[in-house]
Amino acid sequence: MPVSSRYFALVVFLLILIIFFGYCLTTWNSDTTKKIVNDGANWKKRLPKAIIIGSSKSGTRALLVILKVHPDIKACPDEVHFFNREENYQHGLEWYRARMPKSTGNQLTIEKSPAYFTTRSVPERVYNMSKNIKLLVIVRDPTIRAISEYTQLALKPNSSLPKFENYVTKNQKTVNKERGIVKSGVYIKHLNHWLKFFPLSQIHFVSGEQLIQNPATEIKLVEKFLNLRPLITEKNFYFNKTKGFPCIIGKIGLHGKKKNGCLKGSKGRKHVPVASDVVKLLQDYYRPFNQALYRAVARDFHWA
Ligand code: A3P
Repeated sequence: MPVSSRYFALVVFLLILIIFFGYCLTTWNSDTTKKIVNDGANWKKRLPKAIIIGSSKSGTRALLVILKVHPDIKACPDEVHFFNREENYQHGLEWYRARMPKSTGNQLTIEKSPAYFTTRSVPERVYNMSKNIKLLVIVRDPTIRAISEYTQLALKPNSSLPKFENYVTKNQKTVNKERGIVKSGVYIKHLNHWLKFFPLSQIHFVSGEQLIQNPATEIKLVEKFLNLRPLITEKNFYFNKTKGFPCIIGKIGLHGKKKNGCLKGSKGRKHVPVASDVVKLLQDYYRPFNQALYRAVARDFHWA
């Protein structure tokens, strides 16, 4: 072998050696740093600093699952129903805290129980726990929301609900305002009750429709509201044509949490068919309430 080739081989070998040792050193360093950070992170269960309070069947699960991807969020996997169920509330705040996941002091614990938004006793109880808490409300066209909730109820085993058209109207001529699934969609009334305890600056409204059409853009607004680092981007979503919804590619950064996939089948299911005149009846009923909501939150959700 000529001398120049031997030199070349030696240089290449040395370079490979340097790269290899460099890699080992950074891996060792980051693992050690991670261990030190984790050990000093003070992992414990904390009361939530943010709650998704509603509204049911508007995308509350999707919102929670997407936020969970963020490394600064610790989400409670189950709906706790602490503030709205008497038997749970009686257990006190330590019972509630015990249901939360462990978090570091820098992470934000979040819970979602969609019935909070519409239950009268809840705002004062939440206020008594924390007057600085941040509240998220995801809303969707209330007519579609009502059909979604009805579909869920009608699919329950042994359900004996009348047809949707008869359930939400009186003789298909006027809206039956007393029905729970109708009342839930009068968002402005529920909001006004929350505003007796919290300023609007502590309540953020998420568009259920936009969370499906432009999830990254809609989540950016949530990150801003929660003072989170803006980490969730378009790259965290893919559109699943069979499901007809965006699904999640979870990993953010080197040590991000991996949470890939779509929501389960009960989310995004086919709705019962509804006669168009009853759809119109509901739309006409909700319109003035919707307009009042747009004004109150300074955002037009463009519902029918
Ligand atoms: P439908 O099943 O009526 O389509 P919640 O989690 O509050 O019960 O809301 C359920 C709704 O979330 C679904 O209602 C669906 O429209 C909506 N949704 C929003 N983003 C979704 C997603 N990425 N995957 C599935 N459903 C989603």
